[in-house]
Amino acid sequence: MKLLRAALWLLLPVISRAEPISITVGTVSVITGLISYYGLHNYFWGSSRVEGTVNVTALQLDFEKNIFGQHLAKQVIIKAVPRFLSNENPKKPLALSLHGWTGTGKNYISQILVNNIYSEYMRKKCVRTIVATLHFPHASHIQEYKDQLQTLVRSSVSDCERSIFIFDEIDKMHPGLIDAIKPFLDYYDHIDGVSYRKAIFIFLSNAGGEKITELSLKFWRAGRDREEIKLSDVEKDVYLSAFNKKDSGYWHSSLIDKNLIDVFVPFFPMEFRHVKMCVKAELERRGHDADEEITIAIAKDMTYYPSGEKVYSVKGCKTVSTKLDLFL
Ligand SMILES: Nc1ncnc2c1ncn2[C@@H]1O[C@H](COP(=O)(O)OP(=O)(O)OP(=O)(O)O)[C@@H](O)[C@H]1O
Ligand SMILES: *[C@@H]1O[C@H](CO)[C@@H](O)[C@H](O)[C@H]1NC(C)=O
Ligand SMILES: [Mg+2]
Repeated sequence: MKLLRAALWLLLPVISRAEPISITVGTVSVITGLISYYGLHNYFWGSSRVEGTVNVTALQLDFEKNIFGQHLAKQVIIKAVPRFLSNENPKKPLALSLHGWTGTGKNYISQILVNNIYSEYMRKKCVRTIVATLHFPHASHIQEYKDQLQTLVRSSVSDCERSIFIFDEIDKMHPGLIDAIKPFLDYYDHIDGVSYRKAIFIFLSNAGGEKITELSLKFWRAGRDREEIKLSDVEKDVYLSAFNKKDSGYWHSSLIDKNLIDVFVPFFPMEFRHVKMCVKAELERRGHDADEEITIAIAKDMTYYPSGEKVYSVKGCKTVSTKLDLFL
């Protein structure tokens, strides 16, 4: 990037001597446009990745190193996303539903995923995070919000066809807003001249969290490793019950029943050993020695459930960072 900047700065005075300012600006934007188009600016960044694609090996390594206790989520995402990204002619956008207990890594894994697909520079253009309760808090403004949301999706995809939209707390989103994004998820060739088929929609929610905990407990009580839980077990025990009982709100009936969601990604509650791993990772991130004693002390300071067996962290790994502040 430094090299690139230097090159542009060297070019600038030469061009501006000969051309009016407007042309200079145009020239520079054409140059930067070309550079980003060919993924060349990555070259200057010292990485060989191409924007909008993913290096599966690197993604796998990143997941192994950073995401704990979520064998199915890692597996499902690694299977679905690279395949979609390498498909030049998808029939519909990819819609993923990430769901499970709080603090289990839904936002974290999404962040790692987009970081593997786009550089920081391109993320500004191609990745949008929408938090319903934050961006659209007032039910009375729903019509206005609908327009805003549709404009956001349309302009982002017009700018970057492989846009990624992360909808956080989708279970708390107003039905009107769900209806507003529904057309984008469907099998349309294009809507008003824009094709949404290369976009990725990621929905995050706590829906099904209790059922996933029940399933994990069943394995835990039988003395079986949670890694033995297969996607088909989750389908049987979680999707067919929790998701069919309409307890996951309007988005459920509206997106799931219409088969607009392509992939369900379950997140398991965090056990003590996983919380320990989170503490260790956080200590290392802050440049501290991951001392076993302090790691255990911090992990023990979290609250666990169910009340008798105390297997899973109530907040997952979510409060690890603030706990650390108190200990250090
Ligand atoms: N499975 C995990 N592996 C490693 N770290 C994790 C994991 N889950 C959570 N963490 C840590 O906890 C923090 C909070 O997790 P995150 O925000 O991803 O939770 P979430 O599943 O989105 O929860 P919520 O449902 O409350 O939004 C992360 O930034 C990360 O540091
Ligand atoms: C993909 O990532 C791996 C691991 O980081 C790296 O060794 C490899 O060179 C990368 N491949 C490409 C094509 O960039
Ligand atoms: Mg979250």
